[in-house]
Amino acid sequence: MKKSLTAIQPSGILHLGNLIGAIEPAVQLQETSQLSMFIVDYHAMTVPQKPVELRKNILFAAAAYLGCGIDPVKTTMFQQSRISEHTELAWILNCVAKIGELERMTQYKDKSQKLNVKSQSEGVSVGLFDYPVLMAADILLYDTEVVPVGEDQKQHVELARDLAERFNKQFGETFVIPEPKIRAEGARIMGLDDATKKMSKSATSAKSYISLMDESDVIRKKIMSAVTDSGTEIRTDRNRPAITNLLTIFSIVTRRSVESIEHSYVGKGYGDFKKDLAEAVVSYLDPIRAKIQTYLADETELKHILNDGAERAKKQAQFKMHRIRQKLGITL
Ligand code: ADP
Ligand code: TRP
Repeated sequence: MKKSLTAIQPSGILHLGNLIGAIEPAVQLQETSQLSMFIVDYHAMTVPQKPVELRKNILFAAAAYLGCGIDPVKTTMFQQSRISEHTELAWILNCVAKIGELERMTQYKDKSQKLNVKSQSEGVSVGLFDYPVLMAADILLYDTEVVPVGEDQKQHVELARDLAERFNKQFGETFVIPEPKIRAEGARIMGLDDATKKMSKSATSAKSYISLMDESDVIRKKIMSAVTDSGTEIRTDRNRPAITNLLTIFSIVTRRSVESIEHSYVGKGYGDFKKDLAEAVVSYLDPIRAKIQTYLADETELKHILNDGAERAKKQAQFKMHRIRQKLGITL
């Protein structure tokens, strides 16, 4: 079986974009591959976090994975910080990575600008800059072949490939070269209030995203007030990003093709379309939210699942680190 792996930061809200871009593909991959899915709490620390909130968000992320269909028996589900080999390997890869290639990472550029600090060099943490190297360590530590992620993470997976190849060249065959797996439709769900920006939990307005915990009426309101483009036709078009985005969401949550949806709305207006879309998203998210709530109510069970996953991951990580240290010549 192929090895696949993905992770999400426990930074509060998980939204429809995360579910469609990363979680759903992972849920599918757990049937055909050996999946590791974890919660990257050390990545979350690259921007300021309140300890009480972070703890809550780690448990929430675990409940969300389970509620969305991750099966902790098939999948190794754990918390990144429990496996110290991730940060150990990140240090080693830091000595392989170049400053220039990290400076080219678009997520770093975006996030450091959003922090709104007086001076980048004084106000942005070294951790935020180094974030993709820790992500490369996450991936390479488990001999990962497939990494299901949204479009925005492609550049980071490519960096992991480059670091693996460079290390292998220098020290001999050590790492498997991972492939990003990006779904053809839905790899970049756009914001509901601005279809030129991706749906993101760091958006300034809550109208931008549909959270996995939004109640049905909130979902309806957000969809009814989603921006639309000029023109009235319900049809995908490169120059009409808002309706294209809504059609993509409709297609994914109902598992119908975009063409068949377009066909159903010939001669109808945005009002009808949005009402039906809202109901489709509500039906898709309602059972997921209910399951997340059930898991959230049992913290002991969540911790038990994460402990069990950490034990399984630790064994693999220790084995790999042993080999890496041998390759580096530091095993005496
Ligand atoms: P955010 O940008 O909201 O902080 P993360 O960076 O934590 O989200 O992303 C977690 C996972 O979800 C990644 O695999 C990412 O590519 C995917 N993802 C995030 N936003 C979207 C989106 N709008 N559309 C599709 N996938 C997304
Ligand atoms: N950087 C990813 C994000 O923001 C999260 C992440 C960390 C990840 N380590 C990973 C994703 C390893 C896939 C594989 O979404």
